[in-house]
Amino acid sequence: MINNYHTPVLLNEVIHNLNIVANGVYVDCTAGFGGHSQAIANKLKDGKIICFEQDNDAYNFLLKKFKDNKNVKIFNENFIFIDREIKEKVDGIIFDLGVSNYQLTSQKRGFSYKIDGPLDMRMNQKNKLTAATIVNTYTKKQLIEIFQKYGEIKSPQKIVDKIIELRKQKPITTTLQLQKIICNEIKKPIHRKHPAKTYFQALRIVVNDELNSLKQGLEKATNLLKKYGILAVITFHSLEDRIVKHFFKNISTTHDFYSHNIPLYKKIEPNFCLITKKPITPTLQEIKKNHRSHSAKLRVLQKIC
Ligand SMILES: C[S@@+](CC[C@H](N)C(=O)[O-])C[C@H]1O[C@@H](n2cnc3c(N)ncnc32)[C@H](O)[C@@H]1O
Repeated sequence: MINNYHTPVLLNEVIHNLNIVANGVYVDCTAGFGGHSQAIANKLKDGKIICFEQDNDAYNFLLKKFKDNKNVKIFNENFIFIDREIKEKVDGIIFDLGVSNYQLTSQKRGFSYKIDGPLDMRMNQKNKLTAATIVNTYTKKQLIEIFQKYGEIKSPQKIVDKIIELRKQKPITTTLQLQKIICNEIKKPIHRKHPAKTYFQALRIVVNDELNSLKQGLEKATNLLKKYGILAVITFHSLEDRIVKHFFKNISTTHDFYSHNIPLYKKIEPNFCLITKKPITPTLQEIKKNHRSHSAKLRVLQKIC
């Protein structure tokens, strides 16, 4: 399905790997504009799909979209609360991380370095922390750490010094103000990427506490799976992909167990099996149709006992 708000990425691959049964229970942790949820719902008869979406605009869209579909239940919540809302074991869970096309291109949401708007970047509009608060109030040390850790920028000192200098004259409140500060210091693209891209990525990750939510979400999702249940995760940048890759590897590997109290050594067999040894990536055809898909990686895990 293609709509103006969002085009679901790796849709066929997700549906194929979830191996949907008509009376199964599925969870879409990042429902967005319902592309993946709709495709899952289309395959259900007596089953259900439970959606989580923390963005209010997207949640209202989902309510309308699925108003006549009794198989769909929607929560306007962060997916870190899945264990609070879901008390049954489920057959499949999908995470399609990051932001939607709507969020990226909406002027008022302030996610994009290309579109002028308030320096906001909150997925959940009820949260207090915005990108403007970080840029205007965090210390030099904090800003350097954020850009290094979450933007993977080696030397952000020059940009941070400029931010500190300019914010003393006037608060930095818009996306283009910040983009210009970065572009005045760095004239050329870095590895063919716009110079502001990784600075914006770093701020977005901190505003939405994305990496901590992901770690918690993965842990809780695996606890909810039935035997043979499937967990599918789509990532869009290396920081989130690294977390998923290590989590999946760790949970699907045999571990040694030693006890010092009683002489005991045994191997603990994993409860999960890696379905994708290497991530599934979009075809050239999909990338041509939807450029946003170009960095997507799908990893899939199955509970085996
Ligand atoms: C890439 S979009 C998902 C698009 C969706 N699969 C579709 O087909 O329309 C990611 C969505 O997940 C939401 N999101 C990101 N992190 C979240 C979290 N921790 N809890 C709930 N929703 C989250 C974002 O607000 C965004 O709408």
